[in-house]
Amino acid sequence: MTTSHRDFDHLARPRVRDFYALNHTRQTYAFVSSKRREYLPLRRRRMGIWQALEALGQIVDDSDPDLDLPQIDHALQTAEALRADGRPRWLVLTGFVHDLGKVLCLFGEPQWAVVGDTFPVGCAFSQRIVFPELFADNPDSTHADYASEVGVYTPGCGLDRVRMSWGHDEYLYHVLQDHLSDEALAIIRYHSFYAGHREGAYDFLMNDDDRKLFEHVRDFNRYDLYSKSSERPDFASLRPYYEDLVADFLPDRLQW
Ligand SMILES: [Fe+2]
Ligand SMILES: [Fe+2]
Repeated sequence: MTTSHRDFDHLARPRVRDFYALNHTRQTYAFVSSKRREYLPLRRRRMGIWQALEALGQIVDDSDPDLDLPQIDHALQTAEALRADGRPRWLVLTGFVHDLGKVLCLFGEPQWAVVGDTFPVGCAFSQRIVFPELFADNPDSTHADYASEVGVYTPGCGLDRVRMSWGHDEYLYHVLQDHLSDEALAIIRYHSFYAGHREGAYDFLMNDDDRKLFEHVRDFNRYDLYSKSSERPDFASLRPYYEDLVADFLPDRLQW
């Protein structure tokens, strides 16, 4: 474990800032609404967890300052770190699948609409989001309805009513919605919402249920971040365990 994870200030790779320039400019309320209409009917594909994982094999996340490894390695590293700590099976499963929404890349979505930190749209962008200055060119920053602190929401309305920037978290939440617990689903849906779960921004949109669930999101985050290593897990020897685990919680096929 190092203390340098998510160190955006000493970027070895300028591509992370370039990534957020696109992400923060183009994630608008209208954009999110159009992607929800496009994807959330979940009529694109019928496939199992393993097919999704294999499809993701080659994707490397441009927004991640920590990791140059394929997603399959990250899935296994996260889940194995949870397993090594003796955490419950549902949480190991959650770690294993949490990033599978990145199959959006395979459907042709650019990385700025798939990965990176997420944040609410439809209300003012918080200064506690990474690279807040990069929202300057987002049209919602000066929009009559979306630029005020509360925007289109009411205080305490609960995050379920809040539109988050579009990406792999929200998408996978909808794919798995009928199959996992509220805790697992909150982890999947909000794991990239760093402004919320780490910086404490947007508390005015949350209700008490959200605050309880965010304890699980924060607990999970350590494993998502600090399990990252350049050592590649041995997929072949781990596969039988994960096949059983997936089969225990999820159907053979899911709607994507
Ligand atoms: Fe993620
Ligand atoms: Fe992750």
